[in-house]
Amino acid sequence: MTERCAPGKIILLGEHAVVYGRPAIAVPVQDVQACAVVQNVARSPGVTVCATELDCVYDVECALPDEPLCATVRYTLQRLGVRLRDVSLKVTIRSTIPVASGLGSGAAVAAAMARAIAAHLGTSLTDAEVSEIAYEVERIHHGTPSGIDNTVVSFGQPVYFRRGDPIQRLSVRSPSWLAIADTGVPSLTKLSVGDVRAGWQRDPKSYERLFDQIGVLVGRARPALEMGDMRTLGELATENQELLRALQVSSPEIERLAQAATDAGAFGAKLSGGGRGGNVIAVIDPSTRQRVRDALVAAGARRVIVTKVG
Ligand code: MEV
Repeated sequence: MTERCAPGKIILLGEHAVVYGRPAIAVPVQDVQACAVVQNVARSPGVTVCATELDCVYDVECALPDEPLCATVRYTLQRLGVRLRDVSLKVTIRSTIPVASGLGSGAAVAAAMARAIAAHLGTSLTDAEVSEIAYEVERIHHGTPSGIDNTVVSFGQPVYFRRGDPIQRLSVRSPSWLAIADTGVPSLTKLSVGDVRAGWQRDPKSYERLFDQIGVLVGRARPALEMGDMRTLGELATENQELLRALQVSSPEIERLAQAATDAGAFGAKLSGGGRGGNVIAVIDPSTRQRVRDALVAAGARRVIVTKVG
């Protein structure tokens, strides 16, 4: 039996604009994890995937081509040069990463599965290979992924990411603190990415301007994150939220949580990921963590994770 896990992620700044070639910063969230357990089974050849959280069982051979869990198995075996009929495996997934929450659940499940299958078959994949497999799976989830989610969960480090460029790992010299608050509203990345694309097609000039402005904020956030300058990072997060609002991916629930966090002393707050729901992140001074947490819960957060970056 072989188990491998991958962390969740949050995008600190730059979501949506990153799909259009601007940079973004994302960090792993080790407090939530997706894990895959692989075991041999005495049955006919093939692979069965059991996603306990979703309460379903798939036979990889029979599943539709765009079923993400089975596609992960197929892409991984292809990469390893192993035929489906030459293995008899059961893959069980357990995850504490809420689905459709902007925390990178789809990419983390794919990364954990790819690593666990490779290890169980006595080999291994590089972080870059795991990331490529997770990227292919992301394409099933939402068509035009930038590649940031699969990169951050596969490399497990804070990254400054621009589509097409080699990944840049960030060296965080002094930590920053974040509160991550769940609105409880599902965030379907495919829908928000599709709506932003429709808006961009209608009015490319305005959208390109917004993407450029977001890119500038990301450039300023990089040194702030590396130096642990949480005040600047928080202010940039709030500015990014204003631009995300202009892209129409915010929601009343997001606005309520972001406001509650800043009223309680956070340096700034914004949505993270696709938006419309999912999670809000607030940059906080650790001394205010309990106050911010209480304020977020009072404003309707379903769950609050306080975590350290770096
Ligand atoms: C999703 O976590 C982040 C988006 O920017 C989409 C992507 O980068 O693929 C909204």
